Amino acid sequence: MTAPMVIDCDPGPDDIAALILARQMRNMNVLAVTTVAGNCTVDVATRNTLALMDLLDWNIPVAAGASQPLTRPLRTAGDLFGDDGLLGVELSGTGASGTPSTRATDPRPAWDLVYDVARAAHQPIDIVTLGPLTNIATALAVHPDLPQYVERLVIMGGAFLAGNTTPAAEFNAFVDPEAAERVFSSGIPFWLCPLDVTHQGYITLRELQEVMDLESEPARIFAELLRRGYEDVKHYTGGLGVPLHDPLAVMYAADPSAFSSSECFIGCETQGSITAGMTITDRYSDAQLQPNGHLVETVDRTWFIAMIMDILARY
Ligand code: BDR
Ligand code: CA
Repeated sequence: MTAPMVIDCDPGPDDIAALILARQMRNMNVLAVTTVAGNCTVDVATRNTLALMDLLDWNIPVAAGASQPLTRPLRTAGDLFGDDGLLGVELSGTGASGTPSTRATDPRPAWDLVYDVARAAHQPIDIVTLGPLTNIATALAVHPDLPQYVERLVIMGGAFLAGNTTPAAEFNAFVDPEAAERVFSSGIPFWLCPLDVTHQGYITLRELQEVMDLESEPARIFAELLRRGYEDVKHYTGGLGVPLHDPLAVMYAADPSAFSSSECFIGCETQGSITAGMTITDRYSDAQLQPNGHLVETVDRTWFIAMIMDILARY
């Protein structure tokens, strides 16, 4: 069993896919989900999360967090995923025809819920982040003793080699570079899952059809969300498939045995129109900067896809 966990996310197609997996992972104990502005506004991210909780009959607290990055205006991925954040894929209550969930969000802001859950847990918790790091940076500012209640952070974000939003920056780091830098330098042990590894963790159209053939509603939604994005994102994998960014981070948190990682210095550039949001990783420079985190570098894709099929077949 992994440590008790909070998932912070901005759903978003692959965030929903990650939550669908997390719900059925046997060795995971997810205590709460928090939302942040990123792929879409925080209101839309929260609405999507609540609708998914209904669909999965998942009864854990959901708290909304930051509506803006720490210091910059919000830049969403609305051009890619649409205003609903989900490429028009309807969870009950997210589409034009759906009735929104009647579930209430937790009254606390995300950063207070994370802190309260961490303090109340019987052991240090894991935090898995699938969006910009605004909520976690805010939690660290508001609750400076948070690190003592956290075992590790697993972060989807950043890029060793090249960005997907600017030449230098991956989307989550690009949206809130100041938050990323604060979290990386906070002293909390963290494992960064950058684009270089999430592009190895892709799913093919044929595999998505196999998911579809499982015939459960969560599996259908998982496949449909990723299939609709295929044309726009296949070039990241040389046309092989759709990168599973956020599912890969959740899977790493569940079982790191089929991944490799290196301990090294990781920072985030906050300046410059092209360089802001660029993650800086000292893998082998002469500077040998003091390591502060872990860079997840490879995944065994055969294992990864087999695990996904196994988990989705449980629905
Ligand atoms: C990240 O950006 C978002 O669009 C995805 O959900 C993922 O978290 C990939 O760059
Ligand atoms: Ca995300």
